[in-house]
Amino acid sequence: MNTMHQLVPIIIKDALLAKKVLASKSFIIAPVPQYIRDIDSRTEHDFSFLSDFAERILLFMNGKELWEAKKLLAQSLNREELNCYTMSFQLHIDRLLTPTRPNNKIDLVNDVTNHLYKHVVEDLWGIRVSSQSMLLKMANGVAGLLEPMPRIRKLLEYQNDCEDFYKELIPQVSLFRKTSALASKLQAQFAHLDERNFCFLLMSLVGGMRSAFDALNNGFFAFLQLDTEKRSVLSKQQIFDKNVDLFASLFSPSKVLARICSETTKVGDQEFVKGQRVLIDIRAANTTLEDVTNSDPLCVRNFFNKNISNVHFGAGVHRCPGKDVSQFMFPKIFNAVTEQLKYSTLNSADILFEDNEMTKRIISMPINVMQTIETL
Ligand code: HEM
Repeated sequence: MNTMHQLVPIIIKDALLAKKVLASKSFIIAPVPQYIRDIDSRTEHDFSFLSDFAERILLFMNGKELWEAKKLLAQSLNREELNCYTMSFQLHIDRLLTPTRPNNKIDLVNDVTNHLYKHVVEDLWGIRVSSQSMLLKMANGVAGLLEPMPRIRKLLEYQNDCEDFYKELIPQVSLFRKTSALASKLQAQFAHLDERNFCFLLMSLVGGMRSAFDALNNGFFAFLQLDTEKRSVLSKQQIFDKNVDLFASLFSPSKVLARICSETTKVGDQEFVKGQRVLIDIRAANTTLEDVTNSDPLCVRNFFNKNISNVHFGAGVHRCPGKDVSQFMFPKIFNAVTEQLKYSTLNSADILFEDNEMTKRIISMPINVMQTIETL
């Protein structure tokens, strides 16, 4: 592969070209398993777990195998299958939002969203996760593999974090029948996978799911920047209830979708040579505003003043399988949390971001919770 081309990516800002590239067989997310195997053979470190893991997670699968896995996932990850979780979701949300803090200070990310992430993982997938930090580290490991050529030190960290999670998960596989209807159904659908590979599939889903909680944090942040009047109108409108596309396009933590051209090809008028790195700028790939083009003066753009992109869930075979899961979770969580935050204040200087080439996420958001009389 031509390293020059890998170093200087082509940035795509046009949604149509972006979708064609994402749908084309001539582009892959990245040759990560190969990259890890090369490092494994060149250094004294043993990367056999990580290369095996990378090879088996959805992100680095290709072709027929991936299409088939996605078809099976679509049969399980849909609204009908998720409805039975409504009650337990609501219980977690209510419990986490019960105003118990004496000084009214909470960190919205660490005290609320990350807890919800763990609870949702436990409910949906029937996995007992011993600590929030183990879950976050595993999700970081999966996302980290998408970085262009991660350094050895980073790869060792990703391997440890993913393997720790795996070791906790593997003894639980035989219990899924009792712990989660969804995991049990998935297990039946993916009966052709052995336990190890089934765990890797679940880890793809659990790790991928973090985007949804990052998006929620971005949504809370945007909400807290509105004045009280707008907060109140937005809460009443519940505009995200049926429109997860709108939510994701506004608040997705992903900045770009990265691809490598695996064979020289032409897409539209654009030539791509083998090895060429391509970055799809999600925000810029914004062609249609049809989601929000209505005559409502309280249209969401008036609140958040951001553009709408239409590759927020990706496209082509790697398109996100978690759209229905997000639709199921967002309205419940967003409405319940923002209802409690109507009078809260945020000091933007206290917020911590993690920002890299691919993603921007909030990792700490301390707020003062001002409760209404009714919630006390
Ligand atoms: C707002 C919420 C979400 C956003 C914005 C989002 C965004 C995305 C995007 C853009 C991709 C494609 C990546 C690429 O093509 O390079 C993707 C893939 C993926 N997402 Fe999501 N996602 C969200 C929620 C979820 C949830 C809830 C789950 C789990 C149930 C999930 C699991 C995954 C997985 C496993 C992949 C990899 C699919 C593949 O490579 O074939 N995501 N997501």
